Amino acid sequence: MIYVLNGPNLNRLGTREPDIYGTTTYQDLVDLCLTTAEDLGVTVEVRQTNADHEMIDWLHQAVDEGADVVLNPAAWTHYNIAIRDACALLSGKLIEVHLSNIHKREEWRHHSVISGVATGVIAGLGIDGYRLALEHIAR
Ligand code: DQA
Repeated sequence: MIYVLNGPNLNRLGTREPDIYGTTTYQDLVDLCLTTAEDLGVTVEVRQTNADHEMIDWLHQAVDEGADVVLNPAAWTHYNIAIRDACALLSGKLIEVHLSNIHKREEWRHHSVISGVATGVIAGLGIDGYRLALEHIAR
């Protein structure tokens, strides 16, 4: 099982700041992950939450199962140490994904507290980043 976990406000994709995130909806993101998984012959579960305690519980579940995780921590990327600490417990791969290129945006988005415990980071490729992350894990 590969978990694809999405943080706050990502359920609003499609109408959320379309100049930055485009008009691709959250459902498009889910569909892409499911189609990619089917093509690769792997099982994925795609989840989204606006509550950090729920994300931490999901990360603990991945820890207990030794599962790989594709994570878009959204705004938590930049300050949530509890989520970083949960990520640090993972024994499987952790691919941090951002739809936008956070390095091109406001300076406070340039730093990720998650990247130091991630296997790798993909930013700026829109939902294609999720496909690439899944392909990497499946290999
Ligand atoms: C994001 C980038 C974050 O800075 C922002 O808070 C998000 C989305 C991205 O996918 O580009 O919510 O993680």
